[in-house]
Amino acid sequence: MFEQLKKDILQQIESVNDLQQLEKLRVALLGKKGTITEQVKSIGKLPIQERPAAGRVLNELKEEIQRALEVKREELMKIEAEKLSKKMWVDITLPGIRRRVGHRHPIMKTLEEIEIIFVSMGFKVVEGPEIEDSWHNFDALNTPEWHPARDEHDSFYLDSFLLRTHTSPVQVRTMLSAQPPIAIISPGRVYRRDYDATHLPMFTQVEGLYVDENVSVAHLKYTLEKFAQQIFGSERRIRLRPSFFPFTEPSFEVDVSCGVCGGKGCQACGYSGWLEILGAGMVHPNVFRNVGYDPEKWTGFAFGMGVERITMLKYNIKDMRDFIRNDKRFLENF
Ligand code: PHE
Repeated sequence: MFEQLKKDILQQIESVNDLQQLEKLRVALLGKKGTITEQVKSIGKLPIQERPAAGRVLNELKEEIQRALEVKREELMKIEAEKLSKKMWVDITLPGIRRRVGHRHPIMKTLEEIEIIFVSMGFKVVEGPEIEDSWHNFDALNTPEWHPARDEHDSFYLDSFLLRTHTSPVQVRTMLSAQPPIAIISPGRVYRRDYDATHLPMFTQVEGLYVDENVSVAHLKYTLEKFAQQIFGSERRIRLRPSFFPFTEPSFEVDVSCGVCGGKGCQACGYSGWLEILGAGMVHPNVFRNVGYDPEKWTGFAFGMGVERITMLKYNIKDMRDFIRNDKRFLENF
């Protein structure tokens, strides 16, 4: 009795291979309208003397089916768990995902270095407007109408104003609002109509001004040599070459000895042994007069350098335009 049914059912259970299917089968067998449930219900239709035997057999069958279902369920659960743990496996020996941290632009790094050097010598950092009037940018600095920098081909004009061509007007503004002794540097952006491998239309300057009694070229030379040694290396020397600026007299171009050949002359310095780093000079008496200082009493030196140029010399960069191309492969070298 029920032998064939039992065999079929056990085989069905055996052939199931996922948990959902197994649950469906359980309902089909033991649910309210399941095969076995229906069989149990139909016992009532049997003759009374056959009922106990049929009941016992069906009960045993039901229990056996339940056991088989349970065994199968455990088997499938184990397979599922293994699958899941494979899927979630983490290789803790793999390198992590690096969070990339930004950094300062090379020009800003050099600028900060320059500032620290001069601040450590007692200079104060002063800033001023990038849009200037021509009086602060030119006239006060003894730069007459005929000077080429005043030409529209060399400067950017905005109506009666212009984008400052140097940070010297900050020195004018400082002298107008304070009395000597004065020791300042003025860093900032400046603008000129230039664009090639060694000139940008917008670049960064640091200018310096020292005004006191009895200031001489010796003070200028000492200060700038100490600066050059700190930024380029203690073995460096500087030299002054005569030059011209309307706002200084005498004026100089300042060179630093070549770091590659030590001054003997090589390809890096064009076989001269020297590299030009900045312009400087003793403040012209007319500049003092323009800001209300007595030129008989006060003397001073001033200097101005391009931060891009200093950075190019420091890292041997050939094209100034690299600083503004925003190419991370370049910028990440600093
Ligand atoms: N202002 C000059 C320039 O921009 C630099 C300079 C400053 C030269 C001070 C001499 C003295 O080129």
